[in-house]
Amino acid sequence: MSMATHSETSGLDLVGKLLDPASRADPYPVYAGFRALGPVWIDEISALVVTGYRDCETLLRDPRLSAERWRHFDEARESDPYPAGAPSSVRQPWFLSMDPPDHTRLRRLVSRAFTARTVARLEPYVTRLVGDLLDRACERDTFDVVSGLAYSLPVTVICHLLGVPAADERLFHGWSAQLTRQLDGFSNPADETPKEAEQWAGGMVELHRYVNELVADRRGSPRRDDLISELLAAEDGGDVLSHDELVSTIVLLLVAGHETTVNLIANGVLALLRHPGHLAALRADPGLAPAVVEEILRYDPPVQLTARVAREDVHVGAAKVPAGGLVILLLAAAHRDPEANPDPDRFDPGRAQVRHLGFSAGAHFCLGAPLARLEGRVALAAFAGRVQEPRLVADPPPYREHINLRGVSELLVGHGPRG
Ligand code: HEM
Repeated sequence: MSMATHSETSGLDLVGKLLDPASRADPYPVYAGFRALGPVWIDEISALVVTGYRDCETLLRDPRLSAERWRHFDEARESDPYPAGAPSSVRQPWFLSMDPPDHTRLRRLVSRAFTARTVARLEPYVTRLVGDLLDRACERDTFDVVSGLAYSLPVTVICHLLGVPAADERLFHGWSAQLTRQLDGFSNPADETPKEAEQWAGGMVELHRYVNELVADRRGSPRRDDLISELLAAEDGGDVLSHDELVSTIVLLLVAGHETTVNLIANGVLALLRHPGHLAALRADPGLAPAVVEEILRYDPPVQLTARVAREDVHVGAAKVPAGGLVILLLAAAHRDPEANPDPDRFDPGRAQVRHLGFSAGAHFCLGAPLARLEGRVALAAFAGRVQEPRLVADPPPYREHINLRGVSELLVGHGPRG
């Protein structure tokens, strides 16, 4: 048996293991298996799987790889899942899946509105919200961190940021949950049942209709201090966002910023509960929260992988991805590459240096990273400070089905009397 054939077989076995629901609670041994193989082309899924930290980081910046992932899925590209009469904005691609120069133009315009200052201004609001959520959650002896804290926070914050009326927030909760599947890099849109595709498209159309109305309303009313108004006003050398680009960007902010942040908070609480010494240290010094957040992003990242499509043949080590092939960058595996982080399987917020690609790297580096970091650090510090004698009710807790957006579906925590 040649080396190449052996690698292909093993790589496919590992994909099978990764897809197995039994691996959801702990996929890290499967990632270690991939790392042992090195970059590996797996013919059956037409993909090169990359796990080395340096390789992942370099490839994320490589212009020979395209973020236009839909190019890989021909069947999906040819079919239009949206019903007649859907707003035209549903067909406007997200800039997450665009290449320069279109990506550069849109990202620059959106960055003018969604600034570090916008995020910094939110801190008192986020702190108050987290306090209220925890107050309510702690009224019960046992509460679910996902539904009681992690799930509500990001969607409420993004609605506040956008200026969505409070009464409509619950609509966003539903849409957001329904639409995140789009970001799960392991699923081929062509593999969906027609019913799943129809449900997804239906949710997307409803959300776009709502956001179209919101934007129309904001255009007509005097400018308020919210992100939609800022996006309407954003200008770069005379260039502005078209109506469809604006609507599509708002939908992207909601979808990209919700489940990811939910999982940052829930994965973070879980890691702290499993490492009580670090939980106690955070309780004693809330100033440790930023380091805890960075270590979670490395150790158990909310986004486990991302993908690109090769524009031409690209060699990575001894492996090659042909033009049109998919490159799967297993970020969560790269974080545990011992060349990047010594003793990588240990959760240790006190590391001298944390190297992670949890927000990606290069042109698509997460635009919402400052907001995610803010929500993560406020939520984890408040959890450590306010929940007395917390203990995990079930370990491991149940996980959601997603491979990429890794997170628990429920995280029951028992606690002592309120402090
Ligand atoms: C892009 C992770 C929260 C908005 C990305 C990418 C990653 C990521 C890995 C790049 C994907 C790639 O290179 O293919 C995360 C994580 C989050 C988080 C782990 C939470 C812990 C947020 C939030 C927002 C947001 C809160 C906004 C409200 C975006 C946008 C992009 C992006 C707009 C596209 C950037 C571009 O293509 O230029 N995120 N994200 N994210 N994220 Fe986040």
